Amino acid sequence: MTTTEKSIGVRRHSLPAPGLGEHAVVTGQNGSGKTETACQILSAGVGNTYQAIIIDTKGEERFESLPGEPAIHTKPRGIRADGEHQFIVYRPGLEDNSPAQIDTLLLEVFNQRRNVYLYIDEMYQVCPNAKPTPGYGYCLMQGRRRWDGKTASRMCIFSGSQRPVWIPRHGFTEAKHFYIHSLSEGDMDVMCGYVGRKSDIMMEAPPEGHEFYYYENTAQSRDGKRYPPQKFEFDLERKQEAKVA
Ligand SMILES: Nc1ncnc2c1ncn2[C@@H]1O[C@H](COP(=O)(O)OP(=O)(O)OP(=O)(O)O)[C@@H](O)[C@H]1O
Ligand SMILES: [Mg+2]
Repeated sequence: MTTTEKSIGVRRHSLPAPGLGEHAVVTGQNGSGKTETACQILSAGVGNTYQAIIIDTKGEERFESLPGEPAIHTKPRGIRADGEHQFIVYRPGLEDNSPAQIDTLLLEVFNQRRNVYLYIDEMYQVCPNAKPTPGYGYCLMQGRRRWDGKTASRMCIFSGSQRPVWIPRHGFTEAKHFYIHSLSEGDMDVMCGYVGRKSDIMMEAPPEGHEFYYYENTAQSRDGKRYPPQKFEFDLERKQEAKVA
């Protein structure tokens, strides 16, 4: 089974985790559960073989309970040297956390590592004003598959933001997996613009509490069929299971 085929639950509409070479987006208002959703998805989707690097500019305790005692680094050199931990949390100090410094680190990660997951908890910290930055853009474009003449390397870029307008457009257009928590009506409208006509359902029955819609970009879907967004909620007691509301 490849990482792409790993899913939470068993039915076609159960929640798929992004595979390497696929990108994902999680949006939702403050406290709607984005970080928790990303942790659940990453815990389920990152096989033992792959590393996941988390850009945690806010200092979220939740990341510390990811599987396998994640490493916490506060300096870029810590990331560069860490080839052993499956989950690596990067919490830059004041002198390392400008958007340009973080963006440079993304490029470095891409050039140094093959096959890595990269979760950015707050996109505005990397691309302020949603202006695409070179490192983020390069990882998105090349991460779907980079070939160095001998081997292919893939990345999964998972972009998180309270508001969709804080993620550069190609963060959405390159994404296959969308996890959409509650949003203001205006922001839901923006989201629907990316999800397409089938998204009326998200306006009619918006997610509440920690619910979210999962939408898969059909242009990249393996069976080519069109599915409307589906509503899920994680049951934290039963770990890594999602139920259709
Ligand atoms: N499915 C869930 N069931 C129960 N509690 C949840 C669930 N998802 C998240 N929570 C809880 O809700 C709170 C907010 O979740 P989380 O930090 O993931 O939100 P967020 O959208 O990332 O917020 P922020 O925008 O502030 O980063 C946390 O205490 C978290 O444990
Ligand atoms: Mg969060």
